Amino acid sequence: MDTWDALTSRRNVRQFADRPIDAHVLDRILEAGRRAPSSRNWQPWDFVVVTDREQLQELSTVWRGAGHVAQSAATVALVVEDSDDQQVRGRAEYDLGQATMAMMIAAADEGVGSGHSAVGDQERARQLLGVPADRRVAYLIDLGYPADRPLKPIRQPNRRPFDEVVHRGRW
Ligand SMILES: Cc1cc2nc3c(=O)[nH]c(=O)nc-3n(C[C@H](O)[C@H](O)[C@H](O)COP(=O)(O)O)c2cc1C
Repeated sequence: MDTWDALTSRRNVRQFADRPIDAHVLDRILEAGRRAPSSRNWQPWDFVVVTDREQLQELSTVWRGAGHVAQSAATVALVVEDSDDQQVRGRAEYDLGQATMAMMIAAADEGVGSGHSAVGDQERARQLLGVPADRRVAYLIDLGYPADRPLKPIRQPNRRPFDEVVHRGRW
Protein backbone atom coordinates (compact mmCIF):
# COMPACT_ATOMS: atom_id res chain seq x y z
CA MET A 1 0.00 0.00 0.00
CA ASP A 2 1.18 3.55 -0.49
CA THR A 3 1.28 5.85 2.51
CA TRP A 4 -1.99 7.65 1.78
CA ASP A 5 -3.83 4.37 1.29
CA ALA A 6 -2.46 2.97 4.54
CA LEU A 7 -3.49 6.14 6.35
CA THR A 8 -7.03 6.20 4.94
CA SER A 9 -7.56 2.44 5.29
CA ARG A 10 -6.79 2.28 8.99
CA ARG A 11 -9.86 1.78 11.13
CA ASN A 12 -10.47 0.07 14.44
CA VAL A 13 -10.71 -3.63 13.68
CA ARG A 14 -12.38 -5.56 16.48
CA GLN A 15 -12.94 -8.93 14.80
CA PHE A 16 -9.95 -10.84 13.61
CA ALA A 17 -9.44 -13.79 11.28
CA ASP A 18 -7.83 -16.89 12.74
CA ARG A 19 -4.56 -16.18 10.95
CA PRO A 20 -1.18 -15.49 12.53
CA ILE A 21 0.97 -12.50 11.62
CA ASP A 22 4.37 -13.47 10.20
CA ALA A 23 7.21 -12.68 12.60
CA HIS A 24 8.88 -10.26 10.19
CA VAL A 25 5.62 -8.35 9.68
CA LEU A 26 5.06 -8.12 13.43
CA ASP A 27 8.62 -6.92 13.95
CA ARG A 28 8.15 -4.28 11.27
CA ILE A 29 5.09 -2.96 13.10
CA LEU A 30 7.06 -2.85 16.36
CA GLU A 31 9.97 -1.17 14.61
CA ALA A 32 7.59 1.56 13.43
CA GLY A 33 6.71 2.18 17.08
CA ARG A 34 10.35 2.18 18.15
CA ARG A 35 11.13 4.84 15.53
CA ALA A 36 8.32 7.16 16.62
CA PRO A 37 9.32 10.67 17.71
CA SER A 38 9.08 11.60 21.37
CA SER A 39 9.62 14.62 23.58
CA ARG A 40 13.40 15.23 23.80
CA ASN A 41 13.75 11.75 22.31
CA TRP A 42 13.17 10.22 25.77
CA GLN A 43 11.37 7.20 24.25
CA PRO A 44 9.28 6.59 27.38
CA TRP A 45 7.84 3.31 26.12
CA ASP A 46 8.44 -0.41 26.34
CA PHE A 47 6.41 -2.77 24.20
CA VAL A 48 5.27 -6.17 25.48
CA VAL A 49 4.06 -8.35 22.61
CA VAL A 50 1.64 -11.17 23.34
CA THR A 51 0.71 -13.89 20.83
CA ASP A 52 -0.29 -16.75 23.13
CA ARG A 53 -4.06 -17.32 22.85
CA GLU A 54 -4.63 -18.04 26.54
CA GLN A 55 -2.65 -14.98 27.58
CA LEU A 56 -4.55 -12.84 25.04
CA GLN A 57 -7.84 -14.07 26.46
CA GLU A 58 -6.75 -13.15 29.97
CA LEU A 59 -5.47 -9.79 28.80
CA SER A 60 -8.86 -9.04 27.25
CA THR A 61 -10.35 -8.87 30.76
CA VAL A 62 -8.32 -5.88 31.95
CA TRP A 63 -10.86 -3.42 30.56
CA ARG A 64 -14.51 -3.63 29.55
CA GLY A 65 -13.59 -2.28 26.11
CA ALA A 66 -10.77 -4.80 25.58
CA GLY A 67 -12.84 -7.83 24.53
CA HIS A 68 -11.43 -7.74 21.00
CA VAL A 69 -7.92 -8.43 22.33
CA ALA A 70 -8.94 -12.07 22.96
CA GLN A 71 -9.31 -12.81 19.25
CA SER A 72 -6.31 -10.85 18.03
CA ALA A 73 -3.29 -12.54 16.45
CA ALA A 74 -1.01 -10.36 18.57
CA THR A 75 -1.42 -7.55 21.07
CA VAL A 76 1.17 -4.95 21.95
CA ALA A 77 1.00 -3.53 25.47
CA LEU A 78 2.44 -0.02 25.72
CA VAL A 79 4.23 0.34 29.04
CA VAL A 80 5.47 3.60 30.56
CA GLU A 81 6.85 4.96 33.82
CA ASP A 82 4.04 5.30 36.38
CA SER A 83 4.50 8.95 37.30
CA ASP A 84 2.19 11.13 39.43
CA ASP A 85 3.57 14.23 37.73
CA GLN A 86 0.85 15.50 35.39
CA GLN A 87 3.41 17.10 33.08
CA VAL A 88 5.31 13.84 32.69
CA ARG A 89 2.07 11.95 32.13
CA GLY A 90 0.93 14.47 29.52
CA ARG A 91 4.18 14.20 27.59
CA ALA A 92 4.03 10.42 27.75
CA GLU A 93 0.45 10.33 26.48
CA TYR A 94 1.35 12.44 23.45
CA ASP A 95 4.35 10.25 22.69
CA LEU A 96 2.38 7.03 23.14
CA GLY A 97 -0.15 8.38 20.67
CA GLN A 98 2.58 8.88 18.12
CA ALA A 99 4.00 5.38 18.65
CA THR A 100 0.49 3.94 18.42
CA MET A 101 -0.32 5.65 15.16
CA ALA A 102 3.06 4.70 13.65
CA MET A 103 2.38 1.04 14.47
CA MET A 104 -1.17 1.22 13.17
CA ILE A 105 -0.11 2.74 9.85
CA ALA A 106 2.69 0.18 9.48
CA ALA A 107 0.13 -2.53 10.21
CA ALA A 108 -2.32 -1.16 7.63
CA ASP A 109 0.49 -1.05 5.11
CA GLU A 110 0.75 -4.83 5.52
CA GLY A 111 -3.03 -5.37 5.43
CA VAL A 112 -3.04 -6.00 9.17
CA GLY A 113 -5.91 -4.49 11.15
CA SER A 114 -5.43 -2.86 14.53
CA GLY A 115 -7.50 -1.71 17.47
CA HIS A 116 -6.99 0.30 20.64
CA SER A 117 -7.86 -0.59 24.16
CA ALA A 118 -7.45 1.29 27.38
CA VAL A 119 -6.46 -0.59 30.55
CA GLY A 120 -8.73 -0.52 33.59
CA ASP A 121 -7.34 -3.15 35.96
CA GLN A 122 -3.74 -2.04 36.21
CA GLU A 123 -2.73 -4.63 38.79
CA ARG A 124 -4.02 -7.50 36.67
CA ALA A 125 -2.42 -6.14 33.50
CA ARG A 126 0.93 -5.82 35.29
CA GLN A 127 0.66 -9.31 36.68
CA LEU A 128 -0.30 -10.92 33.35
CA LEU A 129 2.58 -9.23 31.57
CA GLY A 130 5.19 -9.38 34.32
CA VAL A 131 5.47 -5.59 34.34
CA PRO A 132 7.27 -4.04 37.35
CA ALA A 133 5.23 -2.07 39.91
CA ASP A 134 6.84 1.25 38.94
CA ARG A 135 5.46 0.99 35.39
CA ARG A 136 1.97 1.50 34.00
CA VAL A 137 0.38 -0.54 31.22
CA ALA A 138 -1.04 2.45 29.40
CA TYR A 139 -2.78 0.96 26.34
CA LEU A 140 -3.15 -2.22 24.34
CA ILE A 141 -2.93 -2.33 20.55
CA ASP A 142 -4.45 -5.48 19.17
CA LEU A 143 -3.44 -6.69 15.73
CA GLY A 144 -4.68 -9.22 13.20
CA TYR A 145 -6.13 -9.68 9.76
CA PRO A 146 -9.70 -8.34 9.68
CA ALA A 147 -12.42 -11.02 9.83
CA ASP A 148 -15.07 -8.85 8.18
CA ARG A 149 -13.47 -7.20 5.14
CA PRO A 150 -9.93 -6.37 4.08
CA LEU A 151 -8.61 -2.89 4.76
CA LYS A 152 -9.23 -0.48 1.93
CA PRO A 153 -9.36 3.32 1.76
CA ILE A 154 -12.45 4.71 3.51
CA ARG A 155 -14.10 7.27 1.24
CA GLN A 156 -16.35 8.90 3.83
CA PRO A 157 -14.90 8.59 7.32
CA ASN A 158 -17.17 9.34 10.30
CA ARG A 159 -15.35 12.52 11.18
CA ARG A 160 -16.26 16.17 11.80
CA PRO A 161 -16.35 18.15 8.54
CA PHE A 162 -13.00 19.38 7.22
CA ASP A 163 -14.05 23.05 7.26
CA GLU A 164 -15.22 22.80 10.85
CA VAL A 165 -11.95 21.28 12.02
CA VAL A 166 -9.48 23.32 9.96
CA HIS A 167 -8.95 27.00 10.83
CA ARG A 168 -6.68 28.97 8.53
CA GLY A 169 -4.55 31.66 10.09
CA ARG A 170 -6.96 32.32 12.99
CA TRP A 171 -9.66 30.37 14.87
C1 LIG B 1 -6.84 6.86 23.51
C2 LIG B 1 -7.81 5.90 22.86
C3 LIG B 1 -8.40 4.92 23.62
C4 LIG B 1 -9.28 4.01 23.04
N1 LIG B 1 -9.80 3.02 23.80
C5 LIG B 1 -10.57 2.08 23.22
C6 LIG B 1 -11.05 0.97 23.99
O1 LIG B 1 -10.78 0.83 25.18
N2 LIG B 1 -11.80 0.05 23.36
C7 LIG B 1 -12.12 0.16 22.02
O2 LIG B 1 -12.80 -0.74 21.51
N3 LIG B 1 -11.71 1.21 21.27
C8 LIG B 1 -10.94 2.17 21.84
N4 LIG B 1 -10.48 3.22 21.09
C9 LIG B 1 -10.83 3.33 19.66
C10 LIG B 1 -11.73 4.53 19.31
O3 LIG B 1 -13.03 4.29 19.78
C11 LIG B 1 -11.70 4.72 17.78
O4 LIG B 1 -10.39 5.01 17.38
C12 LIG B 1 -12.62 5.84 17.32
O5 LIG B 1 -13.96 5.51 17.56
C13 LIG B 1 -12.46 6.14 15.84
O6 LIG B 1 -12.71 4.98 15.06
P1 LIG B 1 -11.63 4.40 14.04
O7 LIG B 1 -10.38 4.08 14.82
O8 LIG B 1 -12.27 3.15 13.47
O9 LIG B 1 -11.36 5.43 12.99
C14 LIG B 1 -9.60 4.12 21.65
C15 LIG B 1 -8.97 5.12 20.88
C16 LIG B 1 -8.07 5.99 21.46
C17 LIG B 1 -7.38 7.02 20.59
